[in-house]
Amino acid sequence: MNEKLAAARFLQPSLAPTELVSICDMLEYPADRKLGDVALPCFKLSKVLRKAPQKIAEELCEAVKADPDSAEIFEKVENVNGYLNFYVSDKAVLQDLLAMDKEDFGSSEVGKGKTVVIDYSSPNIAKPFHIGHLRSTVIGQSIKNIHRFCGYTCVGVNHLGDWGTQFGKLIVAYKKWGNREEIEKRGIKALTEIYVRFHEEAEKDPALEEEAREAFSKMEKGDEECISLWKWFVEISIAEFKKVYALIGADFESWNGESFYFDKTEDVVKALKEKNLLKFDGGAYIVPLDEYGMPPCLILKSDGSTIYATRDIAAAFYRKKTYDFDKCIYVTSAGQSLHFAQFFKVIELMGEEWAKDLVHVPFGTVSIGGEKLATRTGNVVLLEDLFREATEKTLAVINEKNPTLENKEEVASAVGVGAVIFHDLSNGRIKDINFILDDVLNFDGNTGPYVQYTYARCSGILEKAGTWQCENWVLTSDAERAIIKTLGLFPEKVDQARRELEPSVITRYLLDVCAEFNRFYHDCPVLKADNEAVRATRLGIVKATANVLCNGLHLIGLKTPKNI
Ligand code: ARG
Repeated sequence: MNEKLAAARFLQPSLAPTELVSICDMLEYPADRKLGDVALPCFKLSKVLRKAPQKIAEELCEAVKADPDSAEIFEKVENVNGYLNFYVSDKAVLQDLLAMDKEDFGSSEVGKGKTVVIDYSSPNIAKPFHIGHLRSTVIGQSIKNIHRFCGYTCVGVNHLGDWGTQFGKLIVAYKKWGNREEIEKRGIKALTEIYVRFHEEAEKDPALEEEAREAFSKMEKGDEECISLWKWFVEISIAEFKKVYALIGADFESWNGESFYFDKTEDVVKALKEKNLLKFDGGAYIVPLDEYGMPPCLILKSDGSTIYATRDIAAAFYRKKTYDFDKCIYVTSAGQSLHFAQFFKVIELMGEEWAKDLVHVPFGTVSIGGEKLATRTGNVVLLEDLFREATEKTLAVINEKNPTLENKEEVASAVGVGAVIFHDLSNGRIKDINFILDDVLNFDGNTGPYVQYTYARCSGILEKAGTWQCENWVLTSDAERAIIKTLGLFPEKVDQARRELEPSVITRYLLDVCAEFNRFYHDCPVLKADNEAVRATRLGIVKATANVLCNGLHLIGLKTPKNI
């Protein structure tokens, strides 16, 4: 039951024509149960209704009580100092608890029949998969999981940076200084080295730049040698990216990168010309956006080659045509906000009404132990090191606390990697992150391991308990009511996370659940409860907690070992 909605239903006849949702918005959850489970402050209404808040509360109280159904849900309704306080009946609380027994508790069908495209991760070929891509991956994956849980059809797209003038440079560099075996062995690292060397040498010998332009132009014309080299760079890079994806459990429905749109950019240019949006200026074709307070969107370079934005416009059209999306979400660092604002505007100016459904989801930067990553190469190796270190440290804790645990390595990886993901998703995504491994792994702090450990604890209790009856449940303490109430918020939180595209709503909520559960567990013996009915009720609570933690952890991309 959604307590706000339940209370709003009884209030609506008196507050008509105000709609249910608006009444829900006026309702609050008091911090202290003494002030009710849900309450209506009548102060704002006082201005509209031109009556004292106390008077309004009194009249509403009478009206709610007059409805015979209200007593079933609210055992007490009180007006106190301009507030109307509702107290949920034990019967209704227990009914809620019963509903939480479903495995898919928290899921919904709001997205039924709707499709979202989520463009995330999207690293660049032959360049390091850095920590910014890691953020895009975990945020994007979580946004996808949340939408899927709400009934949407989801298309996760890895929009690989696999086209552009940099490949001309790489081809030239490879032909001059590259070594096949070395690259097969050392992958992206070796590719980056020759790429860096290209820039160093090009400073001394500018003719190299011209050679690179030619090579890319050959690539765009389909030259066999250039294309086969490019394909090889792509293969090598993807193999490395996939290692990271396997570790963090990311998966994609489409791997169409920028190259996929190369032959689709012509139509974009044509349409822009027809609509008279394209201007030749400063040696390039642009769409001026000064009217909208933005620098122009660059479409074609002077040599006719396309760029990032052109391919993004083509990709948006392709996705609309192919998936008929209700929303197309792009997860990248806040550094690219202007790029998205620009090309969204261009699509709007082209007269496409669906331009409004394109959404950029920006996030802040990451530093490690206070060190900005620009100064330290945040490359694949660093990420692998990070995960390895997190896993090793977790394994050490397990060896100390639970040395006989089965699948120790597997659990250590689930917890170690999970800790990194959880930390990433702990604060609003736009906040910059500072990463200190020991804090992230602290089993007693507000961390992933703490939540996973609480889940494992619930699983342990349930395993020991065997089977129990769901009849004759009784509530005997406020700690029980409090945890059930917190668990009952799960569907609302899932929906909030979806609407705000903000996985941290789930992460923070899971910490609340753990805190509330641990209070309950401290106050209320479960397996050794006084009698069968109390024991069964408390087991019901443990089961519901396990459900919420399990579903919530999966939504943010963490695994849920039953034993840690
Ligand atoms: N490859 C880009 C980068 O690493 C991110 C691509 C994001 N998606 C897009 N459709 N532009 O910065």
